[in-house]
Amino acid sequence: MAKKQLFSLSVNGEEVDVASPSDATLLETLREDLRVLSPKRGCNQGVCGACTVLVDGVPVRSCLTLTALCEGHDIGTVDGMGEDPILATLQKHMVEKGGVQCGFCTGGMLMSARNLLAETPRPSRDTVKSALSGNICRCTGYRTIVDAVCGAAEELAQ
Ligand code: FES
Ligand code: FES
Repeated sequence: MAKKQLFSLSVNGEEVDVASPSDATLLETLREDLRVLSPKRGCNQGVCGACTVLVDGVPVRSCLTLTALCEGHDIGTVDGMGEDPILATLQKHMVEKGGVQCGFCTGGMLMSARNLLAETPRPSRDTVKSALSGNICRCTGYRTIVDAVCGAAEELAQ
């Protein structure tokens, strides 16, 4: 394992200094060193989207992102965005419409959906599908998740 190094990160609005292996991925630092657990380790190869977090508001695969490259950037995860009105509305609709089953994909899915609604407040159903196409869900069949994002967009637009 690589030697540990001190990184200064901004995670969910808090400045933190964390010792992580110098070659750690952001997913490893978040889960193993900071105990931020909503980003999940699925494939660990950039395919499933379960590890998706926001870096400066943009969804990234944290399993493919080096912690060393994240200093000076704002890292956001579901754990620390409870006050965010877009995320709160998405979470409400995900629960109401049955978009959460085992929950493994949910943190990453919400990060992609949150970015979509921040950039495109009234997306078409096809745009929602395309925005979530990098997030794999093994449980729901996706329809309820797309319903939830469309429902959240409608509510936020009112
Ligand atoms: S764990 Fe990162 S994309 Fe699957
Ligand atoms: S709810 Fe189980 S993987 Fe999506």
